[in-house]
Amino acid sequence: MCGIIGYVGKRDAYPILIKGLHRLEYRGYDSAGVALINEAGKLNVFKAKGKVAELETFATDKDTTGHIGIAHTRWATHGEPNTANAHPHYSASERLAIIHNGIIENYSVLKAGLMQEGYSFKSDTDTEVLVQLIEYTQVDRHVDLRTAVQLALQQVIGAYAIVVLDQEHPDTLIAARKGSPLVVGIGDDEYFLASDATPIVEYTDKVIYIEDEEVVTISNDREVEIVTIGNVQKPPEIQRLEMSLSQLEKGGYPHFMLKEIFEQPRTLTDSMRGRINLRQDNISLSGFIDNRERFINAKRIIITACGTSWHAGLIAMYAIEEFARIPVEVEYSSEFRYRRPVIDKDDVVIAISQSGETADTLAAIQLAKERGAFIFAICNVVGASIPRVSHSGCYTHAGPEIGVASTKAFTAQVVALTMLALCIGKEKGTLSPDKYFAIVRELGQIPDKIERVLGQNKRIAEFAKMFMYAQSFIYLGRGYNFPVALEGALKLKEISYIHAEGYPAAEMKHGPIALISREMPVVVVAPQCGTYEKVVSNIQEIKARKGRVIAIVTEGDDLISKIADFVIEVPRTEECLTPLLTVIPLQLIAYHIAVVKDCDVDQPRNLAKSVTVE
Ligand code: F6R
Repeated sequence: MCGIIGYVGKRDAYPILIKGLHRLEYRGYDSAGVALINEAGKLNVFKAKGKVAELETFATDKDTTGHIGIAHTRWATHGEPNTANAHPHYSASERLAIIHNGIIENYSVLKAGLMQEGYSFKSDTDTEVLVQLIEYTQVDRHVDLRTAVQLALQQVIGAYAIVVLDQEHPDTLIAARKGSPLVVGIGDDEYFLASDATPIVEYTDKVIYIEDEEVVTISNDREVEIVTIGNVQKPPEIQRLEMSLSQLEKGGYPHFMLKEIFEQPRTLTDSMRGRINLRQDNISLSGFIDNRERFINAKRIIITACGTSWHAGLIAMYAIEEFARIPVEVEYSSEFRYRRPVIDKDDVVIAISQSGETADTLAAIQLAKERGAFIFAICNVVGASIPRVSHSGCYTHAGPEIGVASTKAFTAQVVALTMLALCIGKEKGTLSPDKYFAIVRELGQIPDKIERVLGQNKRIAEFAKMFMYAQSFIYLGRGYNFPVALEGALKLKEISYIHAEGYPAAEMKHGPIALISREMPVVVVAPQCGTYEKVVSNIQEIKARKGRVIAIVTEGDDLISKIADFVIEVPRTEECLTPLLTVIPLQLIAYHIAVVKDCDVDQPRNLAKSVTVE
């Protein structure tokens, strides 16, 4: 979703801003723009619909000089994706320019008020309303820019991360946030502002995460100053980034998504490092140890998440109920937050998010916190909003995920949640020591086993070509592999734009079986565990109706090999760990189909990596 970058310092701002926009492209966007104050003190704004490259082409013959500037990638919310709606937006006098990530919910009321004062608007955006309101406040109340920003934001309902540039103060950027992320990077005599650390990491590892309702002033000859919108001073808290530049490069792969799929043996090792002691067959998870009583006495666990993270949550439901015998409910954050859920103070709420910024999940946490529940976050991005507002948690340590379609973050979430389920079960005494040790030992084998699945990549790429013209797919699975079926279908939809549905295999005869034909491939996730025989019967039912079956099976399975049209083998493992292996071929199938269809794999249309608005 929208990306923000700002710079003030001694270097030319434009190349830094453009590079920053490229780094933010992964978040998803449909237009881009930049504002700079040149040596003569003029504030110039350039914008273009489409990719950052189009903005660069447009700006080739323009005055892009200046040592201070702001830039933005916009993901349309109010108003279609066109140049007029792209950010930055000028104020009426063109003295100010603003970039904004979020939604101003009461923008129409504010706009009507400004129109009565004689203001007119060049775009359909809520953002332009905000910059006009700031300028109006500045003029009407005779206050400085920071005070005008504070007063204007006091009137705003909604979410925002904003940066304002003022022609009259060509050495200062004023920024603020509520609900949308914003981070300040501190270099030598220079400062950066961004939606996340990816555009900052090559310049500095010193950052300050801005909190909700804080307004920050950065200027190259002064210390960072933070006040709340109610004007309470806040001491800046400088933190070290744990990210490296090489993590943000493709490293020889054609796409980030493929790189991230292939990184999984290493990312899962990182997720387990320092937590699993394979010599003692033991897991030590500090977030669990510190809150042991909350977990083992929990009457119920509510898991809240969106998209792929929600699928990881479903797998965790199977594991927690099996090992810890605690009832688990898995909720879409967007539904949970609005349906007046019954939440008790003895409930443990596990919020799962790769980005740690998903607006619906943040709101779900807020609600559960207000009702007294204990909030435990499973998150990938260190320092993001979700871990900061939660009581405790566990980072997945998968490293930056740039491809919009989540892959390595998903498997890292499943590993973190499985470790948590094992810890609760062991401490409650509901999981036998033998079973606990067997699974812990097996977790240590998973990275090597994923490596073996990845060894089939070339074969999967070949067969994927056969399916590029399919209009629709069904994915089936049962038990721990039902969420894997959902995840496989989501991956295909997202990046290849082919319709796909995931179903519990046994539900097929209650409806989807009507769709079976030669034209619609059916992917069946069928490792040899749990309800294996029943899934074999489901495959027979599909074949009896001339359906084409792609089956994900356990190595050496010669029963399904005889009936399915195409088989991909995964190594044998503990049932609860099968998703970590069976999901790999599904990620590769989606990837290769998207590549042969010539789709934009890393930045699929309409999608955003970090969904910071509702
Ligand atoms: C799918 C995908 C999305 C995210 C969802 C939640 O590949 O990436 O469905 O899983 O938007 O995002 P996070 O995990 O950042 O809260």
